[in-house]
Amino acid sequence: MNGDLWDSHAGWWQREFTDGADPEYQEQILPLVDELTKGFDKILDIGCGEGQVTRALPSQPSRVVGVDPSWRQVAKALERSTGESYAQASAASLPFQTGVFDAAVACLVFEHITEMSASIAEVARILKPGGRFVFLLNHPLLQTPGSGWVEDYTSETPSQYWRIGQYLVEQETIEEVELGVEIPFVHRPLSVYLNSLADNELSLQRMLEPAPPEGFLERHDAYRSASHIPRLLVLVCEKR
Ligand SMILES: C[S@@+](CC[C@H](N)C(=O)[O-])C[C@H]1O[C@@H](n2cnc3c(N)ncnc32)[C@H](O)[C@@H]1O
Repeated sequence: MNGDLWDSHAGWWQREFTDGADPEYQEQILPLVDELTKGFDKILDIGCGEGQVTRALPSQPSRVVGVDPSWRQVAKALERSTGESYAQASAASLPFQTGVFDAAVACLVFEHITEMSASIAEVARILKPGGRFVFLLNHPLLQTPGSGWVEDYTSETPSQYWRIGQYLVEQETIEEVELGVEIPFVHRPLSVYLNSLADNELSLQRMLEPAPPEGFLERHDAYRSASHIPRLLVLVCEKR
């Protein structure tokens, strides 16, 4: 059902977040992915959507593959392809042999996946020993559902702060991100992700929490007020 929602709303994602429309991708995510995958040859992009991350990978396009369960996303990726290959598949069941990729990327995907443990196990399975996993998430701690910038004028001394939602509560929600566009989200504490990586021989090498980029802050005064709160978390792991 969740996959169906992504397929129904593929056009919304492509219009609002790809092809240069989104400053966080342009200024931050795509350059980071490029930097963190340099020097790796055969690379898999898991949950590739219409392929903007796949196309930004620094390897030869013929050495790059993207998978996504939404056919509408895969069809657009094939249309926009500059030589990369694409296939329709879920992260929980990757149609590849064991140990064939030098690196894998998952960009803002696992917060939409219910079968998280099986999907992390699949990442570990398809990577060669010494392979890299670049794992980008909406920051699970600071962007917990219910989090946001608060300007509180109810007391004599007004205060401004970042509120955090119910961090420890694992929950699946369907969020209406725009009128008529419902997208599934799964919130998990950071420890759930880190322990799943550890259980699958994916050792953490670096953790990045970049500040929101300027093009995003320009969009709203409240965004600038919260410029000290990261939206993105990047985990760089090595398969043992
Ligand atoms: C927020 S979009 C990100 C797309 C792409 N990674 C990017 O950064 O442009 C989330 C993507 O996750 C995909 N997705 C949802 N469930 C998935 C699953 N079980 N396995 C792999 N991808 C999934 C959706 O179809 C959608 O294309």
